[in-house]
Amino acid sequence: MLKRKYKLILVAGARPNFMKIAPIIRSLKLKARKEFKAESSKIKEERLKNKEGKGLSYKLVHTGQHYDYEMSQAFFDDLEIPKPDYFLEAGSGSHAIQTAKIMTAFEEVCLKEKPDIVIVVGDVNSTLACSIVAKKLLVKVAHIEAGLRSFDLTMPEEINRMVTDAITDYFFVTEQSAVDNLRKEGKPENRIYFVGHVMIDNLLYQLKKLEAVDPAGFEHQSLKQELDQYVFLTLHRPSNVDNRESLAGIVSALNEIAENIPIVFPVHPRTAKMLKQYNCNLSDKIHQLPPLGFQESLYFWKDARLVMTDSGGLQEETTALGVPCLTLRDNTERPITIEMGTNTLAGNRKEDIISCYRQIMENGKSDSAIPPKWDGKAAERIVDILISA
Ligand code: UD1
Repeated sequence: MLKRKYKLILVAGARPNFMKIAPIIRSLKLKARKEFKAESSKIKEERLKNKEGKGLSYKLVHTGQHYDYEMSQAFFDDLEIPKPDYFLEAGSGSHAIQTAKIMTAFEEVCLKEKPDIVIVVGDVNSTLACSIVAKKLLVKVAHIEAGLRSFDLTMPEEINRMVTDAITDYFFVTEQSAVDNLRKEGKPENRIYFVGHVMIDNLLYQLKKLEAVDPAGFEHQSLKQELDQYVFLTLHRPSNVDNRESLAGIVSALNEIAENIPIVFPVHPRTAKMLKQYNCNLSDKIHQLPPLGFQESLYFWKDARLVMTDSGGLQEETTALGVPCLTLRDNTERPITIEMGTNTLAGNRKEDIISCYRQIMENGKSDSAIPPKWDGKAAERIVDILISA
């Protein structure tokens, strides 16, 4: 694939992207460090600062889809992601407005930088917007976390996944179901790379780092210390929080569960807005926190009795650490977390959530295992493929 020095653009826009970009950058740096081994440390550092390697160089673009300190900069700091070369300031808006703003600004970057490959991750609007721009400028698209399908077209992410994969050149895949989906869609076999999961690379790296960190630095350390057992909750999907009936049902289930076990709940800005708008009151046994940085969030959920979530990434991260996970959705684009991992789908109706919660608390989920290639080496595999294929 790469015969001369190639230029990559890495795209990150929203919170779940940052965890996936960090290991790629770390791996690119490591490669460059090895390539420039013979050079003086001054030249080596200069080249790393300029994001150069012998085989390839890269630029980092932050679309600005997420922009609050807690949703963006806190992650760049925690995850050791360098300052972006471009910040597009797309901000919030309707899907059309947000996507259009990202596309317009990203086109200028591509025209200026003339990259050979644009790397997009996940399934957010930034993923979709930047892959369309790249492909129309005849730039190759590499999609990390390609092939996942919920088969639920009411999810904006499903549309983003399908459209991105329709124009992707290099499919980097996290689980077998994604390989199967791409094959069924007729994607070329020699462009599908089952590499494992960069999100798990990040998790394992951060877990190690956490062992060496003094938790006294975490703002909410005392809360963890004062709780014996707790549920860790995240909630932000439009299908759960933007609909009054769904949100009221979930809140009612949570209030009931909180009578048995306290719940720690970092509240996403979308959810905070909707809880207020619909006048949904959470019990005071649900500890509401602001959005947490990656390290502090991990500090909480790794020791949770149960994680309840509607996020995609947490279904996978809990599987990797063997923490039981109850997913507040009817479907998942990550079936491996159910087949092999610790995940159970509960849907979003009150009775179903409570009955699923009781079942997990009584029986747990036995026989969970780590999915193939979730070993912390996915980014290394991706960079090797990009350099040598
Ligand atoms: C987006 C992604 C979703 C991902 C989620 C993680 C899409 C279609 N959705 O959803 O896949 O799981 O990020 O968080 O790309 N807001 C702030 N500050 C911010 C960002 C957002 O206050 O930094 C508020 C705004 O009021 C905004 C709302 O949150 O309207 C939703 O943000 P948006 O980026 O549109 O979607 P998410 O729900 O975050």
